[in-house]
Amino acid sequence: MLGAPGAGKGTQASRLSRAIGIPHVSTGDMLREAVEAGTELGQKAQVIMEAGELVPGDLVTAMVIHRLGEPDAECGYLLDGYPRNVAQADALEAAVGADALESVLLLEAPTEPLVERLVKRGAEVGRSDDIETTIRNRLEVYEEETAPLIDYYTSRDLLLRVDGMGTVDEVFFRVVLALAE
Ligand code: AP5
Repeated sequence: MLGAPGAGKGTQASRLSRAIGIPHVSTGDMLREAVEAGTELGQKAQVIMEAGELVPGDLVTAMVIHRLGEPDAECGYLLDGYPRNVAQADALEAAVGADALESVLLLEAPTEPLVERLVKRGAEVGRSDDIETTIRNRLEVYEEETAPLIDYYTSRDLLLRVDGMGTVDEVFFRVVLALAE
């Protein structure tokens, strides 16, 4: 699941994972759990996440590969927030093989509605990186680091583009249609 911060990756991935019965592997959620638990990884990640920058790729890749080795991921998995740049995509391909990924769903949405969604979540839930300056930095990091994956996966014929605007139900319907085509 690929898309800018606030595009709805977590919302749609969680719903899709329940619908098709494969685990939702979210690096953001795993890192927030590590911060909460105060692990060594969490301590390293906390300041970086609060600044809206990327946690070092080797640490995240090790965490993901470990997770994909768990029994519930034997029959498939839905990655959300990983890979986040070309280096991570290369590392993933090296670890699981070039044919392991079936599709890459890109949720597309204009910037300002995403800022609004995240500012709203910041006010309601209090996620520490949902502060407007940090949100805008996360969006810049996405453009610089993650957006090149659109060409990367287009060239591998894996990319499915989905309009991420509209209600959660409308977007989910488009996600299911895109995967079924
Ligand atoms: P991560 O948790 O992955 O954050 P993100 O990419 O910034 O994405 P969000 O979770 O904010 O948005 P989303 O697209 O998942 O949308 P969501 O469904 O939540 O990463 C956080 C940090 O961890 C990174 O900044 C980095 O530091 C680190 N990190 C993570 N992965 C990493 C990696 N691979 N390498 C290095 N560092 C990594 O929805 C957002 C809001 O919008 C919610 O309130 C939701 O209810 C609402 N919403 C969703 N859909 C709709 C809709 N259709 N209409 C209206 N509201 C909607």
